[in-house]
Amino acid sequence: MFKVKDLGLADHGRLQIEWAESRMPVLMRLRRIFSDEKPFKGIVVGACLHVTKETAVLIKALKAGGAEVALCSSNPLSCQDDVAAALALDGVHVYAWRGQDRDEYYRSIGDVLSHNPNILLDDGADLIVTLHRKYREIIGDCIGGNEETTTGVYRLKSMERRGELMIPVVAVNNAETKWDFDNVYGTGQSTLDGVMRATNILLAGKKVVVAGYGHCGRGIAWRARGMGAHVIVTEVDPIKALKAVMDGFQVMPMIEAAHIGDVFITATGNRDVVRAEHIEVMKDGAILCNAGHFDVEVSVRDLERLSISKRRVRSYIDEYKLRDGRRVYLLAEGRLVNLVAAEGHPSEVMDMSFSNQALCVRYLIENRGRLKPAVYDVPLEIDRSVASLKLETLGIRIDTLSEEQIAYLSSFEYGT
Ligand code: ADE
Repeated sequence: MFKVKDLGLADHGRLQIEWAESRMPVLMRLRRIFSDEKPFKGIVVGACLHVTKETAVLIKALKAGGAEVALCSSNPLSCQDDVAAALALDGVHVYAWRGQDRDEYYRSIGDVLSHNPNILLDDGADLIVTLHRKYREIIGDCIGGNEETTTGVYRLKSMERRGELMIPVVAVNNAETKWDFDNVYGTGQSTLDGVMRATNILLAGKKVVVAGYGHCGRGIAWRARGMGAHVIVTEVDPIKALKAVMDGFQVMPMIEAAHIGDVFITATGNRDVVRAEHIEVMKDGAILCNAGHFDVEVSVRDLERLSISKRRVRSYIDEYKLRDGRRVYLLAEGRLVNLVAAEGHPSEVMDMSFSNQALCVRYLIENRGRLKPAVYDVPLEIDRSVASLKLETLGIRIDTLSEEQIAYLSSFEYGT
């Protein structure tokens, strides 16, 4: 069963998937291993992920290992319809198309859960939260889940703290080979790619305000600087703010940055980071966009309230005219600009994130019944094996410790 926009796009989708496969050598190696060993035989995987060419490579690896897969999109605007069509014709139960409204989005999640999945792959926690809220009768069939993103891990940890989480979940996001690469280099590059594809503005010389200096914000700030922008960082965490200062960025409160910024990019995971008081003082022509998981970081409600008219001036750009004539431009309706106006993170970095995903699916199955409901870190062996495999596929060798060095590191006797 499937519901996609247009099966006629499948040939194009297949070519995109092939392109991603050629850039995801670690996951392709795992696919070959899974194909031989069939570790997922008899397992139904339910996935709520951005439906991209990279996600397709993950889904195909799970299928090669024997899994039946049902897939919906983790964002109403991020689905690549050609990829969805190719997967549907390849036997995946896909319920995804670009431009879903809220009802369609949650109906698609329901469609995935109607397959009684044993393993859940989530990006933002909507699938797992919906399972707990509306499909409690099938929780018993669920071995566990993986969570792909920072926001999803926060939500699941909150469920755990309140005693509401009923399945084990691996925080794939928190693997070093995920967040030190995907969140930094992936978000950094793809966010600027989204801004550039949507606007085609020159970044050199622009004042780019990056809200949040976590992994994602750091990646965005570095890449914006690399394009010649003058980067201003806003933060609420003193340690992260200090890191930004010592990385050479200007740091100030959003209300001050609002007066001078040309482009505002949010990556905080929090709501109302750009709101009425900021919009009221922005320069004519300011561009606003978001790289965080949900569309809450730029207050679209405030933007609507403050403006007298709104029109779409280009794909992915809405112009809001304020009462005094100033214009403010919102990209991608305030949703993830990198997945809506561009294609998400490049394949090379998703290779590591999704290899963690695939190996954690196998880990959950191997440990079936042994993990109590909680949020777990990715086991260190998995994290390290992803790094080792990535290095190997890049043709890069590293040193190994000698016996003497191992003994030294585990001793205390040798001092000054
Ligand atoms: N999240 C960010 N980039 C992505 C991509 N290319 N595929 C799936 N999920 C993503």
